Amino acid sequence: METATQLEDASTSMETTAAPFTLAQAQALEAQYVMQTYARTPVMFVRGKGSTLYDETGKAYLDFISGIGVNVLGHDHPRVRRVLKEQGGLLHTSNLYYHPYQGQLAERLAKAAGMARVFFCNTGTESVEGALKLARAWQRRHGREGQTEFVSLTNSFHGRTMGALSVTAQEKYRKPFEPLIPGVRYLNPDNCLDDFAEARAAINERTAAVIIETIQGEGGILPINDAFLKVVREQCDKVNALLILDEVQCGLGRTGHVFAFENTSVKPDILCVAKPLGLGVPLGAFIVNEKAMDGLQPGDHGTTFGGGPLACRLSLEFMEMLQEEQLMQRVAEVGVYFRKKLRQMQRRIPQFVTDVRGLGLMVGVELNFSGKNIVNRMLERGFLMNCTHDVVLRFLPPYIIRKAEISELISNLEEAIVEEAKSQGKA
Ligand SMILES: Cc1ncc(COP(=O)(O)O)c(C=O)c1O
Repeated sequence: METATQLEDASTSMETTAAPFTLAQAQALEAQYVMQTYARTPVMFVRGKGSTLYDETGKAYLDFISGIGVNVLGHDHPRVRRVLKEQGGLLHTSNLYYHPYQGQLAERLAKAAGMARVFFCNTGTESVEGALKLARAWQRRHGREGQTEFVSLTNSFHGRTMGALSVTAQEKYRKPFEPLIPGVRYLNPDNCLDDFAEARAAINERTAAVIIETIQGEGGILPINDAFLKVVREQCDKVNALLILDEVQCGLGRTGHVFAFENTSVKPDILCVAKPLGLGVPLGAFIVNEKAMDGLQPGDHGTTFGGGPLACRLSLEFMEMLQEEQLMQRVAEVGVYFRKKLRQMQRRIPQFVTDVRGLGLMVGVELNFSGKNIVNRMLERGFLMNCTHDVVLRFLPPYIIRKAEISELISNLEEAIVEEAKSQGKA
């Protein structure tokens, strides 16, 4: 029988023969063996450096989507490399035991949010799912058995599990899976701006929690009106409902503050974060205030992987950088530059661009025609971006993006918009 040391030696001496693997091969294999749930863009990445990704032919692409808001330090960052090297020997321990990093990270997150405790999971969807469970359990613990319903906003996206999907208003995500959990109302903030009566009626003694993306992401980069948020907060307090803010996409530095709610006048009872939290290694969390933290008791909720040593150690490195390296100042400043340049572009082609909006480096450009093919045109030109809601071009670049890279994007974008408008017969 081979000993553990022999196996170790064998694995370290194994040669890696880097056979060239083509995009066509990846496509053929995936077409046959991978569930066909994604409409992938026909490009395959093999390495990255800073804000640039490279495909297998060596072509470079400037990354303005960062893996949908995940790779906020770009690719191959030296501090990430160092942590990966140092932590490579202990990847997972489970939540049966302690490791040095979960508690330290929880302290950082709780203090940064001005809240009390943290539960770690793996994804944004799981953080929303956990938050919804906590809200129900908290109501029951406090004797409000009937307070089980949820209120979310029209146009929202909170994830794909049954609970998270139930509070996701966008019909296209929900339809194939109905019936979902009952007792969810979708509130349209635009209908509430005159007298807020609709909001006050929807949030009542049956409401366990209200869940809101501080800035709607999949819905088209739409910040939620502050006066509306204030009324929601007041009404939640009045009827003992919890306020959950979903900052999976807009949190952790994206808006130029550590949390997007810092741009508003409200504070949540539960805050959901994920995407960049583990710098590319899956990690999600919900952060809970003093009031709500007794909602979950030992045995009520758990996960095998959530909050593992590698993800937490990477995240600690990230939180340190967010708070110590003037990264937030940079995001705010470069974000202002990005939107200023986009607005100048809008003034040059107002016949196609109807709006430029966002905060920090969460930026949307609304067109008056379908923008999906602009993503393909930009790919050909060597830029990665995304289109949501058919007409909103979405940009979530890494926090290290440079002004020169933004200028390069914009001159190409303007040409791509005009070309596409022409091909759709709009110009
Ligand atoms: C606001 C929001 N909530 C939840 C999710 C789901 O996160 P994940 O895809 O990590 O499960 C997303 C994903 O885009 C999101 O934008």
